[in-house]
Amino acid sequence: MRFMTTMAAIALICSSLLIAGAAPAAEVDVRALYDKKCKVCHSIGDDAGKMADKGGPLDGVGSKRDAAWLEAYLRDPKSKVEGAMMPALKYTDEELAAFVEYMLSL
Ligand code: HEC
Repeated sequence: MRFMTTMAAIALICSSLLIAGAAPAAEVDVRALYDKKCKVCHSIGDDAGKMADKGGPLDGVGSKRDAAWLEAYLRDPKSKVEGAMMPALKYTDEELAAFVEYMLSL
């Protein structure tokens, strides 16, 4: 009986972890992260960083690129754009997923 209770508790913990893993984007403040990591070289609407002429506007990038392209590009820009000037930045998996989702919404 005690064994069954323990197993049930473990199953419950595992399933709540799975649910948390399924929605990583919600835990990342992607706008704040964009301001910190990306904005300097890009613009979205009128909101342009100091060197926005380098990376250019990201408006409409979501209809130009798909999730797989964005994920590969953000991990390693040179894998998708020959001679890419954008640096390969470091992200956690959650941050990367959040950035891809954010880019797709633009
Ligand atoms: C040091 C400047 C710099 C930073 C910081 C930077 N980028 Fe870029 N980005 C570029 C440049 C330059 C390009 C144009 C293509 C190339 O040379 O790689 C680009 C291109 C892109 C593209 C492709 C746009 C298109 O129309 O195909 C996306 C998407 C993008 N950046 C997203 C981001 C995100 C998200 C971040 C932050 C995590 C970021 N960038 C940070 C310089 C930068």
